[in-house]
Amino acid sequence: MEHRPSAKNVLHSGYHHPVLRTWQCPNTTVRPENLMFPIFIIDGDDDVQEITSMPGNYRYGVNKLKEALQPIVDDGLKSVLLFGVAQNLAKDGLATHADSSDNPVMRVIPKLREWFPDLLIACDVCLCAYTDHGHCGILGADGYLDNQASIERIARQAVNYAKAGAHIVAPSDMMDGRIGAIKEGLTKAGLGSRVSVLSYAAKFASVMYGPFRDAAKSAPGKGDRKGYQLPPGSAGLAARATLRDVEEGCDMLMVKPGLPYLDIMRQTKDKHPEYPLFVYQVSGEFAMIIHAANNGVFQLRPAVEETLLSMRRAGADVIISYFTPQVLKWIKEA
Ligand code: PBG
Ligand code: ZN
Repeated sequence: MEHRPSAKNVLHSGYHHPVLRTWQCPNTTVRPENLMFPIFIIDGDDDVQEITSMPGNYRYGVNKLKEALQPIVDDGLKSVLLFGVAQNLAKDGLATHADSSDNPVMRVIPKLREWFPDLLIACDVCLCAYTDHGHCGILGADGYLDNQASIERIARQAVNYAKAGAHIVAPSDMMDGRIGAIKEGLTKAGLGSRVSVLSYAAKFASVMYGPFRDAAKSAPGKGDRKGYQLPPGSAGLAARATLRDVEEGCDMLMVKPGLPYLDIMRQTKDKHPEYPLFVYQVSGEFAMIIHAANNGVFQLRPAVEETLLSMRRAGADVIISYFTPQVLKWIKEA
């Protein structure tokens, strides 16, 4: 007997035309406002250093950033995420230069505000690029993380970035209670209503941060981050960390990394639909795609487009991606 699909099992009828296909894929387009671009600012003002682990990405000194960003802003860039890199600044146990007047992020924020008045400026808040041990918080005399000292220090760093002119502070340290401490600090500084807190809420202890730690010179000297970043198998801790940060008053949520954590994105969006959801397509994801494309595994553009689409489908509203300049060009061409 020959099997034929019954009329109601015919699906092709719903997507035989390109416009029909867009209707079948709601909320999966990527527009400039769905993208945030991470940038590394180094403490050598005239430096431009290519990051070998992340082909096509650079560390820029304060004097070199305007020229580098102008064409990307012209292509529609809406928001940036700033990371400081200390090559000359001294690192110590208290991360003194995380927010000193010599810190390159502190120094570049007012300039960015002036050069690009419409650009939304987010700053990563963490101590690892400025501590001598490379961990994300303050260590006690016993060598363990001192959570209370850490969140007080991190809150001060966030407030100082806010005072310098950051629109968004984004703590990536994963200490307990930092969102509440930052919110309280911002309120006391009179900035509570003018600065958003984007929480790296579900941030996993991932192998995918390797190229970034090279880029930011922030690898821990000893040990790993498994005591504060989440265990990759734990959807439960991701849900609890997210709920905690919501209760402490964050404005926006993030899942990080992206592609291996699409289920966490969906879970987070379903539980907290009233919060904008960010995903960080991290350095290792960027490197995998670039190296695969450069070695003929697939073409770059469809590979990037499919991965970004998957994150939008999983519930992400904004994607933090090193491909942002490239994607803006593609959007503009279309
Ligand atoms: C700092 C920080 C890291 C990343 C963002 N902020 C590294 C880490 O936590 O080890 C990773 C970003 C990337 O890999 O692109 N806490
Ligand atoms: Zn850190």
